Amino acid sequence: MKNYQITQWCANFIRQQVQEGDLCIDATMGNGNDTLLLSQLCGTSGKVYAFDIQKQALEATQAKLTAENAPENYTLLLESHTNMDKYVGSGSVSCIVFNFGYLPGGDHTLATKAETSIQALTTALSLLKKGGMISLCIYSGGDSGFEEREQILIWLKELDPHRYLVIKSDYYNRPNNPPIPVLVIKN
Ligand SMILES: C[S@@+](CC[C@H](N)C(=O)[O-])C[C@H]1O[C@@H](n2cnc3c(N)ncnc32)[C@H](O)[C@@H]1O
Repeated sequence: MKNYQITQWCANFIRQQVQEGDLCIDATMGNGNDTLLLSQLCGTSGKVYAFDIQKQALEATQAKLTAENAPENYTLLLESHTNMDKYVGSGSVSCIVFNFGYLPGGDHTLATKAETSIQALTTALSLLKKGGMISLCIYSGGDSGFEEREQILIWLKELDPHRYLVIKSDYYNRPNNPPIPVLVIKN
């Protein structure tokens, strides 16, 4: 049995979800691990839009995609994920990945924030096609604090069960505020 990191856990479901030719969004590009995964999965006939507010993240992601010979199917945007609806139409996206928190090795004050995260999540719902999926890695404690986690969990709990399936997993026996993986699937 693997010792699943939260991103590995979510990647299992992302791999099941994304097909060749799909339209995908990495809402929090960071060092580009999720952008690379999405780019490889949706292939040359697919498309990935990736967002981050830090130039350092775009540079790290571009370097990773180049080093890994990723298909040239991506657009890296130095822009907040609250603007993702400027780039794709509603009901068109197969998979949207949110990995909240701060850029590892970067400026912790530029971490995701509850208000903009929920604004972006609300937009993300409208962009998903039927059967589309949002993957969320939610962190708390330390630099992240608890506000963003609490606000996102409240927002998730209130989603209409007729329209969305929300599955929240749990590192049940891990102490010290373990991360929370969540999937949202549009019915
Ligand atoms: C935990 S990192 C993401 C890790 C990334 N998925 C990876 O594979 O390396 C969170 C990222 O969210 C970015 N971020 C913070 N606020 C943002 C916003 N409003 N829009 C887009 N990205 C944002 C941060 O700059 C940081 O790089």
